[in-house]
Amino acid sequence: MRLDKYLSEAGVCTRSEATKRIRKSEVTVNGAVVRDPSVHIDPETASVTLGGETVSWRKFTYIMLNKPQGYVSATEDRGPTVMELLPPQYARKGFFPCGRLDIDTVGFLLITNDGVLGHELLSPKHHVDKTYRFTCDPAIGEEVRQHLEEGVDIGDIVTKPAVVTLDGDLPASAGTITIREGKFHQIKRMFHAVGSEITSLERISFGGVTLDGTLARGEWRFLTAEEEATLQRSVGRSEKI
Ligand code: URA
Repeated sequence: MRLDKYLSEAGVCTRSEATKRIRKSEVTVNGAVVRDPSVHIDPETASVTLGGETVSWRKFTYIMLNKPQGYVSATEDRGPTVMELLPPQYARKGFFPCGRLDIDTVGFLLITNDGVLGHELLSPKHHVDKTYRFTCDPAIGEEVRQHLEEGVDIGDIVTKPAVVTLDGDLPASAGTITIREGKFHQIKRMFHAVGSEITSLERISFGGVTLDGTLARGEWRFLTAEEEATLQRSVGRSEKI
């Protein structure tokens, strides 16, 4: 891999910054200064420093974004996309939002460059749990809660079993819903089909990983090693690949 690409993939700078810093002799590879950004190194074994700091490169990056309203879950769109909330080195080719939250839905969106895991997390084969906090109007009671859990005819499909909890006294206008599918506008359509409308939706958990409550809307952080392992387990892998 080219040295400038390695540095940008490691997330320490953009590719053009990498080029400049390499030319300024700020980068060493295996103890020797390298001034040519096109030099090829083995990313698995090379020991690289930038400005005296060790650079750790990893093949894949996993980002927890707390999506705000008004951003499209796509890499390109006419309006603002979730990728614009990330530094340029993570908004580049190869990174994508894993699944779609509606423009008005907020909460946990995974952004990664791991196409295989991303695909598996979204595949219906793996039944990955997605939990949302919702508010709805009108409020719903026990009968509707059970109906949502058992499966609702939303036109193109009857939804698979879900888990729905309601807050406080019934009928309630807030609670949580866990689904394993990911059809277009699924939760909104489920509520509509039972005579209520979703008034707000926040994804609070995905594949067993919970949204970090310290992240404000629009903020992001890398997943911890434990969270990465949880995601891998949610698709039936016991080890990271
Ligand atoms: N279901 C919806 O209706 N919208 C979302 O954004 C996610 C799930």
